[in-house]
Amino acid sequence: MESSGGHAARSGRRLRAQLAASFLVLSAALALSTPAVAASLPGWAKHLSAADSALANPLANDTTAIPAGQKLYGEKCARCHGADALGKGHHPSLRTEQMHDATPGDIFWMVTHGAHWRGMPGFAKKLTDSQRWQIVSYVKSLSVAEKK
Ligand code: HEC
Repeated sequence: MESSGGHAARSGRRLRAQLAASFLVLSAALALSTPAVAASLPGWAKHLSAADSALANPLANDTTAIPAGQKLYGEKCARCHGADALGKGHHPSLRTEQMHDATPGDIFWMVTHGAHWRGMPGFAKKLTDSQRWQIVSYVKSLSVAEKK
């Protein structure tokens, strides 16, 4: 039997340290499992702020935006995402439920910044804001579909 409180105090400290450590692990796990942005969106969406997501398409009521976006899509996007936007090789389809749920702001952000580390280029320097919004209008006009 130990008469001094030394051992108990030491193990108390150790216990507190272990609790603190597991609390850190737990909060890290929670942070990973609850992304700030809609859970239905893919990994890149976690880089967006709520303001980016909520950005409205200034060309929403411009009937020339979709055809202009279609043309730009053919020039800049089709080689990777396919002329039908159903994806090609490791390049994802843009006609998924996820993309249908994505806001215009989400898509504008992706077209602007890209995900270089995953092979998606950003078009901030290659296309004007209006051109990127035209592409967003076009992508949002597409129906959800499966590759045949
Ligand atoms: C060099 C090939 C390439 C080009 C060109 C390209 N993309 Fe991508 N794109 C990718 C890849 C690869 C991904 C997947 C990135 C990832 O996994 O995070 C992607 C992802 C996306 C996504 C997100 C899709 C999802 O479900 O996560 C959107 C939206 C998108 N691209 C739109 C476009 C548009 C619009 C253009 C034309 C302005 C374009 N891309 C041009 C390769 C390309």
